Amino acid sequence: MSFDLVMFGGTGDLAWRKLMPALFQAFRHGTLPEGGRIIGVGRDDLSHDQYRALIQSRFEKVELAKRPSAEEFARFAAILEFVRMDLSKSEDYARLAETLNARNADGIVMYVATAPSLFTNVCEQLAASGLNSPKVRIVLEKPLGHDLASNRAINQTVSRFFKEDQVYRIDHYLGKPSVQNLFALRFGNALFEPLWRREHIANIQITIAEDLGVESRGAFYETTGALRDMVQNHALQLLCAIAMEPPINAGADAIRDEKLKVLRSLKPWTQETLKQDVVRGQYSAGTSGGAKVPGYREETGVNPQSNTETFVALRTEIANWRWAGVPFYIRTGKRLSGRDARIVINFRPTPHAIFNSNEGVGNRLVINLQPKDGLELHLLAQGQDNRQSRASATQSLAPVQLDLDFDKRFGSERVGAYERLLLDVIDGRLNLFVRSDEQEEAWRWVEPMLEHWAADTSGPRLYAAGTWGPSASSAMIARDGFCWSEES
Ligand code: BG6
Repeated sequence: MSFDLVMFGGTGDLAWRKLMPALFQAFRHGTLPEGGRIIGVGRDDLSHDQYRALIQSRFEKVELAKRPSAEEFARFAAILEFVRMDLSKSEDYARLAETLNARNADGIVMYVATAPSLFTNVCEQLAASGLNSPKVRIVLEKPLGHDLASNRAINQTVSRFFKEDQVYRIDHYLGKPSVQNLFALRFGNALFEPLWRREHIANIQITIAEDLGVESRGAFYETTGALRDMVQNHALQLLCAIAMEPPINAGADAIRDEKLKVLRSLKPWTQETLKQDVVRGQYSAGTSGGAKVPGYREETGVNPQSNTETFVALRTEIANWRWAGVPFYIRTGKRLSGRDARIVINFRPTPHAIFNSNEGVGNRLVINLQPKDGLELHLLAQGQDNRQSRASATQSLAPVQLDLDFDKRFGSERVGAYERLLLDVIDGRLNLFVRSDEQEEAWRWVEPMLEHWAADTSGPRLYAAGTWGPSASSAMIARDGFCWSEES
């Protein structure tokens, strides 16, 4: 199947950091369909060769294992082209249409990796040049809006020109191997399903911690914050993957229908829960990786009085038969203690303890997303037999764990998130992309938090860089009698 992949924002950050390396990996793995062409689009006046040289120089900054050799790059470069465009000019779209029509590839992918303010205009102009035929797929990068109204406005414009099954809203967390594994764990094995419910699960914790600060993205982050950047999308998608009912098949709509139901069942916020069950934080100066690092308000592009949150912890519930009453905790932040993303399922303890040490201790399933990718099952076992335990009438148990390291089992050279998702778009598989109604429902749920914060002048709670966030986050979970997994 021949394809043309047009990358708007072809000279931008996302293109060289994520998209080109992912496409190159697919090329190297032999999974990129033959007969493909990648067309970078940008404002600069570059020849094809100058564009190739630019991308090659950017590859120098990519991690070594993913860097092409000169010979590999020469082969990859043969499918790279550049088209100069001013995205506001209709004649430039007409030229793009000419380039594409001349080849008439089987499929055309429009990857819109530009500022979101341009989405609407790009869609209109593509349609005006006839570039919205059924063989065209459009990929939209987040952020798709900054609240429900702006998200809806984008979705409505896009839907005027493209059918829903032509629209690929990307959430790169859905492409991570560990998230694929979560689906496999739940729906490919019979073992967990009977336990996957309120009768057996005490609480669920989703942590996406980053050790990095805002880096060079201060100005962008100022208008975004952790809730919009991570919770509205990545964290809620993880929550859906854990909480959804088994879909009737592996088709895109079957999966997306079930995720939507979860989002609709999230408990609505009240003034009380907004105060008690949501913690917003912001990092102050501290230490990261052994070095002193500045606070958020000292970062380039950031207002020195900024109230933008770099940390969110929250507690919610899913009001349906499977999950009623089970707390779901979400926590994400920058400049935390380490790069660590995981989902922890804490099971209820045995109904009656006959051993010394198992009262109140439940089993735990940990789904590690990164940096390690794997599963841990924490159990209790008979520990070492010693005089004390022999002497006591009731025996003590010791914690043990079954530890499955997917990197070791399947190799660490596995298909990365963007690689997987780009191949899915080229092949027309929508399963791992977000439908407009899901996205709107997620915004609807997030919005009361944004409004509450806007009205609350006390601002975020400060936490020192290199810690696990404000202590209020531990206090929030302690109110339910639980603690974050690293504290237990
Ligand atoms: C992006 C956010 O969507 O996800 C970034 O905009 C964040 O702020 C990144 O750093 C985290 O992704 P990953 O794959 O490194 O966990």
